Amino acid sequence: MNKVPHLIFVMYLFATNCSCYRPNFILLFADDLGFGDLGCYGHPTSLTTNLDRLAAGGLRFTDFYCTSPVCSPSRASLLTGRYQTRSGVYPGVFYPGSRGGLPLNETTIAETLKPLGYATAAIGKWHLGLGENGKYLPTRQGFDHFLGVPYSHDMGPCQNLTCFPPDIKCFGKCDVGVVTVPLMNNDVIKQQPVDFVTLEQAYSDFATDFIRQSASKQQPFFLYYSSHHTHYPQFAGPGAAGGSRRGPFGDALLEFDNTVGILLSVLEQTGALNNTLILFTSDNGPELMRMSRGGNAGLLKCGKGTTYEGGMREPAIAYWPGTIEPGVTHELASTLDVLPTIAGLAKAKLPMVQLDGFDMIDILVKHGPSKRDAMMFYPTDPSEQYGLFALRLGKYKAHFYTRGAGHSETTPDHDCHIISFLKPHDPPLLFDLESDPSENYPLSLVGRPDLEAVLQRIQAVKKQFEDSMEFGESQIDKGSDPDLEPCCTPQCTPKPSCCQCG
Ligand SMILES: *[C@@H]1O[C@H](CO)[C@@H](O)[C@H](O)[C@H]1NC(C)=O
Ligand SMILES: *[C@@H]1O[C@H](CO)[C@@H](O)[C@H](O)[C@H]1NC(C)=O
Ligand SMILES: *[C@@H]1O[C@H](CO)[C@@H](O)[C@H](O)[C@H]1NC(C)=O
Repeated sequence: MNKVPHLIFVMYLFATNCSCYRPNFILLFADDLGFGDLGCYGHPTSLTTNLDRLAAGGLRFTDFYCTSPVCSPSRASLLTGRYQTRSGVYPGVFYPGSRGGLPLNETTIAETLKPLGYATAAIGKWHLGLGENGKYLPTRQGFDHFLGVPYSHDMGPCQNLTCFPPDIKCFGKCDVGVVTVPLMNNDVIKQQPVDFVTLEQAYSDFATDFIRQSASKQQPFFLYYSSHHTHYPQFAGPGAAGGSRRGPFGDALLEFDNTVGILLSVLEQTGALNNTLILFTSDNGPELMRMSRGGNAGLLKCGKGTTYEGGMREPAIAYWPGTIEPGVTHELASTLDVLPTIAGLAKAKLPMVQLDGFDMIDILVKHGPSKRDAMMFYPTDPSEQYGLFALRLGKYKAHFYTRGAGHSETTPDHDCHIISFLKPHDPPLLFDLESDPSENYPLSLVGRPDLEAVLQRIQAVKKQFEDSMEFGESQIDKGSDPDLEPCCTPQCTPKPSCCQCG
């Protein structure tokens, strides 16, 4: 009779003492990719065979949120499991010469896993600071390796650069008056400007080597692949250029999808597939101002820069054959939940700080309920004065403030545009996101005591949350210094144009 518990105890000891039982993690993070951009989320012409394969064989989320409608704050939350207001990664985003960065005393997913012997690598876009002597680069935040661009790839002159082979120049204007965009290996500049046509190949080669090496050493690994795709200006190498029916945006997305396919093959070849959790999502909604080159929020309202659903609800997929049953979940989840989930699965210690995430393990392995019942919506420029712009509790979302954004110009809905200035709502605008995911029809409270009660609950959750929120010192308000811009020939003149290396 007592043999069974004994056996379980022995298995438990084995599992906790043997590093070969620790799962690997691959975190795929797209850039400015909207809710409606993937084939498996309904886009008719996107070619996303491999992401669709993850969705078909894994769990696809319909109600998954990032924490900010712009890049740097969203990434800070993903890697720390905390709202960006705590870490100080606001307002807006980091620039090439930014003095600040994700504070080094924040604990990233990589730092959570390092004590357990994980190999860790970050590939692609960082955008959590560079700072003096590269003090905010991934290698200072728990990553053994970094190959990538320290910020957005439009944050440097791109007019004369090639974005597609054989020599199609990058479309439109990127930032001028700063150094051209560097490709860095750890904290060394490898190339400046970066070569967009060969970049994805460099990333997938690096990722492939990293997985093979980790697998051959039987070392568990964490790969954070933070793609530049499909952020503006779109680019792609010979394997994807002209390959989609969706123009430059579709080709950039195809290039990302091809890399997902390469990673899947390497996992299969190394026998690591059944022991690897792959999570995919995006940093914020589509940049609608780029029109047909700007991504698509599907049936959601507005996009990047706004706290409407299109700005912050993201496609998300979890894939782990043998552990995650295929399906679709409508449970509420967030990038905030990634750190607690990974820590839970790896049996890592959670950082001793106020976390805003919940582990999603029950959602993943049992299609069970979420531990999260609320999601907070901060604007691009959170402040204690205004606090939350919106809050979702269960299926209801209340907007306390609405505002359009330059990033969401050009679609016919005027609410999305920059001329829709800040508007307070008292009582808040209330939507039922299950019957009206497009936020078209605010609910009338007249004769609806049930909805009055919902609003009261929302107000109570808001108050409790805001009372517990301590805003960290703003890292972005520390400003920029041109001398901090990365330059491969630091002593050259005249800057910034002299910073060029093959
Ligand atoms: C990091 O250090 C700053 C400045 O000392 C402090 O305000 C903040 O609370 C610290 N954050 C964490 C997560 O310990
Ligand atoms: C791009 O090339 C043109 C023509 O050679 C040149 O006049 C211009 O200064 C270049 N722009 C940048 C940003 O390098
Ligand atoms: C992985 O798991 C699946 C489902 O349990 C199984 O069909 C497959 O054979 C396993 N593959 C390997 C390489 O173990």
